[in-house]
Amino acid sequence: MSEPLERTLVLIKPDGLQRGIALELLSQFERRGLRLVGLKLVWPSQTLAEQHYAEHRDKAFYPGLVSFITSQPVVAAVFEGPRAIEVVRTTMGVTRPHEAAPGTLRADYGITVDFNLAHGSANAGDAKREVALWFRPDELLSYSRAIDSWLWR
Ligand SMILES: Nc1ncnc2c1ncn2[C@@H]1O[C@H](COP(=O)(O)OP(=O)(O)O)[C@@H](O)[C@H]1O
Ligand SMILES: [Mg+2]
Repeated sequence: MSEPLERTLVLIKPDGLQRGIALELLSQFERRGLRLVGLKLVWPSQTLAEQHYAEHRDKAFYPGLVSFITSQPVVAAVFEGPRAIEVVRTTMGVTRPHEAAPGTLRADYGITVDFNLAHGSANAGDAKREVALWFRPDELLSYSRAIDSWLWR
């Protein structure tokens, strides 16, 4: 009963890094069994931020969002695993921390939408686009772990 492995982009936004919990947050994804295949610190350029959040171009919060994400470094990671896209999204919780379920990262560590700590690709198309936007192919490693056979088949 094997499921296709997916790759998805995770960002720990400036609030996570500034609060000193970036690696603690990332570890939640690792703990669920997802395999880390890419990791780096990035101080996003204006262009990168605009491309990343292009879908929100016309929203009122867009200028503030772009200025926030470019204000300080972020941690960029790519996680891989069965249904990785959905696993990351459910681990993070919904966009607005006050609506997120307890146990999710945004609920347990956050309170307002301006500081919701993490980004995770929303769907397969976004994941493909965002992984390629943030990482060069040679920055992504393909490998297996002994423990993988106890996590998925
Ligand atoms: N109403 C809002 N006010 C301020 N910032 C917002 C608002 N809605 C969304 N954002 C910011 O924009 C990001 C992207 O929004 P969206 O794609 O809807 O959420 P998600 O990050 O859960 O996919 C959010 O994570 C949040 O940082
Ligand atoms: Mg989104």
